[in-house]
Amino acid sequence: MTKVQAPDILRCAYMEIVVTDLAASRKFYVDTLGLLVTYEDDEAIYLRTYEEFIHHNLILRKGPVPAVAAFAFRVRSPEELDRAEEFYKARGCEVRRKKDGFVRGIGDSVRVQDPLGFPYEFFYEVEHRERHCWSYDIHVPGAIVRLDHFNQITPDVTAGVAYMEDLGFRITEDIRDDKGTVYAAWMRRKPSVHDTAMTGGDGPRMHHIAFATHEKHNIIAICDKLGALRKSDCIERGPGRHGVSNAYYLYLRDPDGHRVEIYTQDYYTGDPDNPVVTWDVHDNQRRDWWGTPVVPSWYRDGSTVLDLDGNPVPLVKRTDDSELAQTIGADGFSYTRPEDEDSMPEWKQGEFKLGHQL
Ligand SMILES: [Fe+2]
Repeated sequence: MTKVQAPDILRCAYMEIVVTDLAASRKFYVDTLGLLVTYEDDEAIYLRTYEEFIHHNLILRKGPVPAVAAFAFRVRSPEELDRAEEFYKARGCEVRRKKDGFVRGIGDSVRVQDPLGFPYEFFYEVEHRERHCWSYDIHVPGAIVRLDHFNQITPDVTAGVAYMEDLGFRITEDIRDDKGTVYAAWMRRKPSVHDTAMTGGDGPRMHHIAFATHEKHNIIAICDKLGALRKSDCIERGPGRHGVSNAYYLYLRDPDGHRVEIYTQDYYTGDPDNPVVTWDVHDNQRRDWWGTPVVPSWYRDGSTVLDLDGNPVPLVKRTDDSELAQTIGADGFSYTRPEDEDSMPEWKQGEFKLGHQL
């Protein structure tokens, strides 16, 4: 394959998702989570976070089947779009370019169906909107301040990471076993733990989109609000602290089942020799630092992704071991200490056995 220089990507910028009931999704993302509306009509709602100055971080588009239409990244200059075109054409991918943009607020942009089957977009030109950093009169206790990252499900994480490294991403953390199977990897352009991650499973699917809050207490405020609204059933997992990334997290499911993470306080990764952190898949603190078991749905479910014509991309089965197979029930009860230290408490051993009956 010809080596073509990759486009210089700044950061993950927005996701376009298809929702089946625009009013229900508006209630979730605007009334409950407090995202700011940049534009809306009967077909779509464009939303942004409190600290964002570009037109949007999330598009909700009305459609028949819940899905993801685009994972969009901002590049450093308009010229980088030529590189994006060349990079994907050299890989035999479907590539489309639209000078006036595929969506509102965005100018010249390139959309591709990438080698893993995901719909990626690259753009530079974008309309600016007011950045509400200082608008404390409208901030809510659980204010969502930035888009932080995407998370994608792909059957072959090793192949996925190789392609993303060609695209200029750097690995910050991964999960492996002693046989060399890679279960997940986190990759960044901006100097945080990630702009996107690859999780091993049947794919391509979208695992989640993650928004940042300032502090841990903002996450608690969101949980309290969901409880007060009797919407606690949209909490899938957490709140908790991740091992991977060291961030605080909360996972929610929107009215269509799209997974949304609220995330805060990971660490700086911008140096060229930033060390990669590798976690053992049997380490019960990798996914949750406190050892809280991960619910099976979190490993199992993901959103369909669309090709450039809007058709669902068929799934490819994962053939390597998955974390779900490794961890159902046993997750949280494998090992936390070296074997020669205290044995597992008896009540946890019981839970371990129960877990295996799931
Ligand atoms: Fe995440």
